[in-house]
This record gives sequence, structure tokens and C-alpha cells, in this order.
Amino acid sequence: MRVKRRGLLLGASAGAAATAIGLTNWWQTGQADGVPRGSPVAVDLQDLPTGKLLTLNWQDKPVWVLRRSPTELAALAGHEALLTDADSQHSVQPPACRNRHRSLKPDIFVAVGLCTHLGCTPQLRGADGFTCPCHASHYDLAGRVFRVGPAPANLVIPAYHFASDNRLMIGTSA
Ligand code: FES
Repeated sequence: MRVKRRGLLLGASAGAAATAIGLTNWWQTGQADGVPRGSPVAVDLQDLPTGKLLTLNWQDKPVWVLRRSPTELAALAGHEALLTDADSQHSVQPPACRNRHRSLKPDIFVAVGLCTHLGCTPQLRGADGFTCPCHASHYDLAGRVFRVGPAPANLVIPAYHFASDNRLMIGTSA
């Protein structure tokens, strides 16, 4: 797997110390639709296996790429009554990602790996989704937040597109 241009792979806990102020400022510097953009990062998805979370450094933030299984995608429909914003009406994502799986391609999930509460980095818990270690907010595998924790919104989805079947460009929509 190759990651070009600022494609520094981060460890599971690296980049976890973003502050609430930094996260808020970063959101506010996005485009009019609120979707964060910036110099694109290219990612080769050819060798990305299902279930492996790839973490990239983009705009000094951790950005996740995760390939989800058909079973995991089907499970997204099963807990929507428990979510704060199941339809992503009050969350930040490109318009084309306002769907149940919150992605352009159903299996490939791309998100900013910062909790929308105070900006910590949630941890992947397999098919259970992502759990934030500091205040226990919990997100499903589409980055949709459960009501049980303090996070107010779903994980942010940045602008991205596919230059080809296996080449993902993060930071630009075309
Ligand atoms: Fe994630 Fe508080 S920063 S729950």
C-alpha cells in the first residue's frame, strides 16, 4: 500500500491530542458547505484489507480510511433509533456522503478521526464501531454518533474522490 504526499502513517494513538479549540477552528476554515478541504493526499487502496483502519496525516489531522464488509454495511440499518443524527442532517460531510454509509462507495469509509466532543481520537472496536477513550462517545462504522455519549454530531467526512477504482484522493472533491 502506498501513500503519497504527506502520507505519514500514524500509530493508533498518534494525533490524539487535538484540542477543542483547534478542531473548531479547523471546521470553520472549511468551504461554505463546511466540508474540510486542503492539499490532496493520494491513497492506493489496492492492498487495503477489510477491517484494517488506515490512518493518514492530512492537514495535521488524522484521517481514517476503512474498508467495511457487506455484513458491517448491512448492520448500519439496525441501530438507527439509537443515533443522534442517523440521517446526518446536522453533521459535516460532502452532500454525496449524506447516506446511511456516509461514503461515496459503500465499502470505503473516509472520516476525520477526531471526536466531535473535544477532539480526542476514538479507537476502532471492530464491528462495534469507534469508542472515544476520554468521555465514552461511541460511533458506528459510518461515523454516526450514538446518543449515549456527549459528542453532538457524527464524525466529519472530508472532501474526497476516487481518481480510479483503487486510487483515493483526500482533500478534493474532483
Ligand atoms: Fe470524545 Fe469527549 S472527546 S467523548
